[in-house]
Amino acid sequence: MADPSAPPTDQLAVTTLNDVSSSHVLKAEFSDRFTIRSIISRPDGGSVLASQKVRVGGWVKTGRKADKDAFAFLELNDGSCPGNLQVIVEASLGDLGQLVPTGTCIVVDGELKLPPPGAKQKVELRAEKVLHVGPVDPAKYPLPKMRLTLEFLRDYVHLRPRTNTISAIARIRNALAYATHTFFQKHGFLYVHTPIITTSDCEGAGEMFQVTTLFSEAEKLEKELLENPPPSEADIEAARAFVKEKGDVVSQLKSSKASKQEISASVDELKKAKESLSKLEERSKLRPGIPQKDGKTDYTRDFFARQAFLTVSGQLQVESFACSLSSVYTFGPTFRAEHSHTTRHLAEFWMVEPEFAFADLEDNMNCAEAYVKFMCQWLLDNCIDDMEFMADKFDKGCIDRLKMVASTPFVRLSYTEAVEILEEAVKNGKKFDNEVKWGIDLASEHERYLTEVKVQKPVIVYNYPKEIKAFYMRLNDDSKTVAAMDVLVPKVGELVGGSQREERYDVIQRRIKEMGLPLEPYEWYLDLRRYGTVKHSGFGLGFERMILFATGLDNIRDVIPFPRYPGRADL
Ligand code: 4AD
Ligand code: MG
Repeated sequence: MADPSAPPTDQLAVTTLNDVSSSHVLKAEFSDRFTIRSIISRPDGGSVLASQKVRVGGWVKTGRKADKDAFAFLELNDGSCPGNLQVIVEASLGDLGQLVPTGTCIVVDGELKLPPPGAKQKVELRAEKVLHVGPVDPAKYPLPKMRLTLEFLRDYVHLRPRTNTISAIARIRNALAYATHTFFQKHGFLYVHTPIITTSDCEGAGEMFQVTTLFSEAEKLEKELLENPPPSEADIEAARAFVKEKGDVVSQLKSSKASKQEISASVDELKKAKESLSKLEERSKLRPGIPQKDGKTDYTRDFFARQAFLTVSGQLQVESFACSLSSVYTFGPTFRAEHSHTTRHLAEFWMVEPEFAFADLEDNMNCAEAYVKFMCQWLLDNCIDDMEFMADKFDKGCIDRLKMVASTPFVRLSYTEAVEILEEAVKNGKKFDNEVKWGIDLASEHERYLTEVKVQKPVIVYNYPKEIKAFYMRLNDDSKTVAAMDVLVPKVGELVGGSQREERYDVIQRRIKEMGLPLEPYEWYLDLRRYGTVKHSGFGLGFERMILFATGLDNIRDVIPFPRYPGRADL
């Protein structure tokens, strides 16, 4: 990973450009063009580069012809930053009509010039040669110039990265991923890849997608049996008779003391007849449909010879590394087959899950708070142009919110205190759809009341009733609550869920049984407590929820490149 304090390589390259004679067309490393960011995102807006010759490529955001079609003015964007480079192309260089439609891709060589006084941009490119045109038929292009709703764009997930909003989110998402690795690496956590396909249900909630080849195998077999029907009883009888016939020949030859050669030839024929009988018998047993045993699906015939699923969380597996390498984290896709149609849930989302030994609930809360703060500060330091775009177009307060979260301590409330605050609010006339009383699982409306109305900053709620939390959370001395914690933030509600883990063998075994879960699949997990057990803690941060929180967008389907939710999995 690059040193984050070093300037980006393309900016470095442009800085050194100043030493090169301006008669050369300058090209960047790993590509034959310069990024637009390296030109216009300099502190001077690129004006110092005037008279440099560069090659750029990008997609036309807006284009128009001017001066009686003598020129075209193109706003060019290559995704390297939210800003566009204005490119001026003379009619002599190409068919201007082909260049101006929104979405057209062009690569041009040209000279950077200072624009006329009063212009918005600090530098523009006067094209000298058009090297490539990827044309667009404006009558057919699904993303015309006008402002399109995010909902409309979800029908074009393959083209929507061309829009300002989706490309800004992609850069913010990338920055948060970089921030995540930077934070954990800086604090000595080791990145562990946990499996996507798993045979344990981490949350015990039965919301897993099953991974199986039984259906495709059954379909294949059905097709095969249609094309090549299984042998009939008569075919098998005939094959049996043939085996008998060949057996008789062998006996006859042996009793008549025939030559060795003759006997061995007839034995070979008998062998062949037996093989073909056993093949026929095998085939006659084939049945279309899913294999069954004792009235249930026979998973021993499935790909993994047992039931398997897509993971809902890498926690259980990452715990096995924490109980050896001390501080680890996993960051990967997780899958939940819940039928939630909310703006906060996806069926496939990414989770960051640190897990660390020799740490209790308070250490866990301190880590979650520091990590969330670090990400907020990272966006302010590294992504301010994209954040300004989001503030301008979607959520005026998003930059102030990042500043507030980066600099203010999170409020910490026990679950009991949180319920008391909610009960107080109800007493004072606040209406919630869901009843408030000790023991409830806090609904999103409750979480948002606490963080948005009551304290107006992030809140960590801890020590939840054991009945509403997962089996692995550590039982507190009151035997009623577990050492769980959720980080709640404005706009989103629950951003992080975590806990200190139950490290006592007897207690966790009892908890698994109490929750009605089978012990057998968790035996390996119990081993971590049987042998060298240790106090340890961890949490999971919903990566898309973090992006929602940072950008202020309303729907989680817009902050993941290819959203998956009930009824929808495009591409
Ligand atoms: O609270 P959750 O279910 O916790 C776990 O899975 C733990 N095993 C994590 C751990 O301790 N290592 O999920 C963690 C976070 C939630 O706080 C939420 O931000 C996000 O994951 N999340 C979802 N994000 C999008 N779509 C969904 N369907 C989500 N479900 C949970
Ligand atoms: Mg949770």
